[in-house]
Amino acid sequence: MNSDDVRGYIGVFDSGVGGISILGALVHELPSEDFVYFGDSANAPYGEKTTDEVRALSARIVDRMIESGCKAIVIACNTATSAAAEMLRNRYPKTPIVGVEPALKPAVLARRHGRVLVMATPMTVRLEKFQNLLDEWGSEAEVVSVPCVGLAARIEQGNLDAPDLTEQLQKLIGSYANRVDAVVLGCTHYPFVQRQITSVLGDVPFFDGAIGTARQLHRRLEEEGLLKEGEEPGNVRFLSSKDDPKELELYRSFLERI
Ligand code: DGL
Repeated sequence: MNSDDVRGYIGVFDSGVGGISILGALVHELPSEDFVYFGDSANAPYGEKTTDEVRALSARIVDRMIESGCKAIVIACNTATSAAAEMLRNRYPKTPIVGVEPALKPAVLARRHGRVLVMATPMTVRLEKFQNLLDEWGSEAEVVSVPCVGLAARIEQGNLDAPDLTEQLQKLIGSYANRVDAVVLGCTHYPFVQRQITSVLGDVPFFDGAIGTARQLHRRLEEEGLLKEGEEPGNVRFLSSKDDPKELELYRSFLERI
């Protein structure tokens, strides 16, 4: 990351392509801001690593973003938010750091007393942040949490219409076909396979954290007087830990899907 290039940008990161589902909402909410997106695809998936590993990877990325002059950070990853948001906010108390969490509250409020399926990584489901959400909202509906082992890693590979991906979903959540009232996409990779999830579960409303995260970033920038002035559309730059130009092409193609 070169400091001259991204000074004043908003740094957005995820383990790979997933956070691009958040980036789309950020650009929509704040079209004149400049964004630098870092996908840590060389280290994906985060959700099946240890908490300490995800903390270390997240700290390395955010250190570089802040050293390069980013004015705010978006952790576009439920897993890294659960594992590292608190540590990162303690490390950089002056920088707005916005995370994403499974949209359990809106799903439960929309489908009170129904059955809500939460799809997330094993780490997100395990950690305290999600357990606290469950304590708060779990009595308003029947909440079923499924740690989707292997799903983010498969989405990283692209080729989302290939039959193996739907077969994988079938194994993970097929037993809930026509038996849930709402689905929380608790990993930022999953919005890219909504159609495939629908083909397994039937027609069901989806909830994810993208719009909430974008609004929260807007509020935080406003509070800190950090909003960019002017109406010109901003830049979006992509970086990846995978040293392969094809990876950046893949990222751009994912942004076009949003
Ligand atoms: N996209 C991430 C999330 O929202 C992480 C997926 C992974 O790398 O396991 O949880």
